Amino acid sequence: MQVTKTVEETRKLIKNWKMEGKTIGLVPTMGFLHEGHASLIKKCREENNIVVVSDFVNPTQFGPTEDLEAYPRDFAHDSALCESLGTDLIFNPEPENMYIDPYTYVNIDVLSDTLCGKSRPIHFKGVCTVVSKLFNIVSPDKAYFGQKDAQQLAIVRKMVQDLNFDIQIVGCPIVREEDGLAKSSRNTYLSPKERQAALCLSKAVKKGQEVICEGAMAEEVLDEMCGVIKEEPLAKIDYVSMVDALTMQPVEKVEKDVLVAMAVYIGKTRLIDNFSFQM
Ligand code: PAF
Repeated sequence: MQVTKTVEETRKLIKNWKMEGKTIGLVPTMGFLHEGHASLIKKCREENNIVVVSDFVNPTQFGPTEDLEAYPRDFAHDSALCESLGTDLIFNPEPENMYIDPYTYVNIDVLSDTLCGKSRPIHFKGVCTVVSKLFNIVSPDKAYFGQKDAQQLAIVRKMVQDLNFDIQIVGCPIVREEDGLAKSSRNTYLSPKERQAALCLSKAVKKGQEVICEGAMAEEVLDEMCGVIKEEPLAKIDYVSMVDALTMQPVEKVEKDVLVAMAVYIGKTRLIDNFSFQM
């Protein structure tokens, strides 16, 4: 496994692999890898000749009061995990290798005014910018993203379509702890008491799935889910919403495929979870 820090050395390796006719898969990450990332890397390993993992805490997707400095980092662990899963290259740049001030942004207005985009106004602009840069640096055939960040996945798909990136986007299912909590690098912020409290997210998902299967309208589904979360004193709801799976706009009736998504603060830690319902 090789590790690169600069765009130039990464491009050189990619060019050689492409000349040998190899297919390239990319798993974009911000490091501190867990089993959710491992599932993306495994899928990427199955479907490509070359597996590239990017490991970069992207400053442009954090708001001024968010957790950029505190975001957990452990490159030795990431590197060992990637190696064990058959990764060929980790691209691990420093921010100065990626951004020279002032820089050009890729922005997407559609799909980003609801859910996380509403609470984190610059987030998806930063995500689209870094993902575009990674696509241009690695030029993968396929790129892998988790369904836990469902809005991000929808936005990346739309950006790839609109900007004509010749890349297939592969969405992978949410990976959960045994007790239901969705795997997230931010789970590490939780105290033991908060870790227990955080189960209200997956319990709300379960409740929402039950109620929606019984044919409830959006309002009832969301009320039931909020009820579960409000039973937990350490939880504060940022949003719980049902949106059209394609447009990310709120819906009242379950008439087409929908995404039911939430963001909840457990203490100071903001966690997300979701489920999709297909008609
Ligand atoms: O999902 C993430 O970890 C990040 O948003 C991504 C896609 C790696 C971009 O920094």
